Amino acid sequence: MNVACLGYGVVGQGVVELLKKDDRFKVIWILVKDLKECDLPEATTDVQQILKDNEVDMVIEMMGGIEFPYFCISESLKRGKHVVTSNKAVLQAHYRELIELAEKNHVSLGMEASVCGGIPWITTLLNQNQTGEIDRVEGIFNGTTNYILDRMHAEHLDFDEILKDAQRLGYAESDPSDDIDGKDSLRKLMISSSIAFKTVTDMDSFTSESLRKIKKYDIEAFERKGLRCRYIASAQKEGDCYTGSVEPTLFKSTDVQATIKLNNNLALLNHSALGTLQLIGQGAGRYPTANAVVQDVVQIYGHRDMMPQMNQVLSAQPSMQNCRLYVRASNDAMNEILPWIEEKEGLSGWTKSITQQEKKELIARMMNLDSDFFYAIIK
Ligand SMILES: NC(=O)c1ccc[n+]([C@@H]2O[C@H](COP(=O)([O-])OP(=O)(O)OC[C@H]3O[C@@H](n4cnc5c(N)ncnc54)[C@H](OP(=O)(O)O)[C@@H]3O)[C@@H](O)[C@H]2O)c1
Repeated sequence: MNVACLGYGVVGQGVVELLKKDDRFKVIWILVKDLKECDLPEATTDVQQILKDNEVDMVIEMMGGIEFPYFCISESLKRGKHVVTSNKAVLQAHYRELIELAEKNHVSLGMEASVCGGIPWITTLLNQNQTGEIDRVEGIFNGTTNYILDRMHAEHLDFDEILKDAQRLGYAESDPSDDIDGKDSLRKLMISSSIAFKTVTDMDSFTSESLRKIKKYDIEAFERKGLRCRYIASAQKEGDCYTGSVEPTLFKSTDVQATIKLNNNLALLNHSALGTLQLIGQGAGRYPTANAVVQDVVQIYGHRDMMPQMNQVLSAQPSMQNCRLYVRASNDAMNEILPWIEEKEGLSGWTKSITQQEKKELIARMMNLDSDFFYAIIK
């Protein structure tokens, strides 16, 4: 099978290396921005050369971004080429359209590497969907934020200090906003919940809270209660409604979520026959991610791949479940929400069980009074 690779960065180099060891595949093109990036004879800067080449059976997109990848993926599918992508941003932005385009042109669209890198999560969702119903997906979908939280708990250092270290070690981007403000997890939650619930979920309907305001002070308050914080993406289906969120969440130190170390990921599903299934592993990195890409390539080659279904009509709805929160704010702001607080400790407090509407009001009020306000959900 002849393959064209678009992008020769961290993932692209890993994929080319793995494919070159496998006789079933021949990498005939590598798209780069500048020929200086790659001294292999397959390198080109001309995407049209690839798209027009009838010898190309499969295109693997590993560039990142949205517009240009969208053009390359949609054009490849229209020309009857299978596509594999590791790019969650383009999938989230054009999910329905790209799947429909693949189906219309009788080709496959593989997306295993787009969520949780090396964990075979997408394949697991697609497989489990064959035999029952998935009504919950949850996970630690972002390695950077888990790395920061795990080290904050272990070393009692402040967020910024560990973020700088993570950037120096290559665990965090120079602009970490998508990771620490939740967009990366939200995109992965949209893809996971869409596959799990056989629909197209709306990312804008999900609740989210940035992790960037968490302090050493909060970590110490959690630990006094035997709790650990993790940045959790979660979506549930109930009847014909779904709800989703990405929020700092507190677990008992013995819960599996609390035990996920450094930049590892966790992906969890709840299935009508199987019950709860948890997968733990590397969510990023050259070889774990390249392995996930090549898994898709091999499945498509062997005609064993599956496409997500989108035949369920579900509507987004705020969660109906009561919750308890940890909150930390200035004294003045805390005084404003005293009726909701069960236990106060310095600048922080633990709320009583409150409805989702009360939670929304509380957060809106606190944000108004104190831009440094931080909360976490208690599981
Ligand atoms: N790294 C991971 O562990 C990981 C895990 C899961 C998923 N992913 C996803 O995989 C994709 C690639 O990630 P990565 O870490 O490999 O990124 P990367 O190291 O930045 O590699 C992307 C490469 O594509 C090149 N590129 C960008 N636009 C291009 C264009 N128009 N024409 C030709 N080449 C172009 C970039 O060149 P320039 O640098 O010159 O722009 C870069 O060399 C992203 O969507 C990412 O979210 C990555």
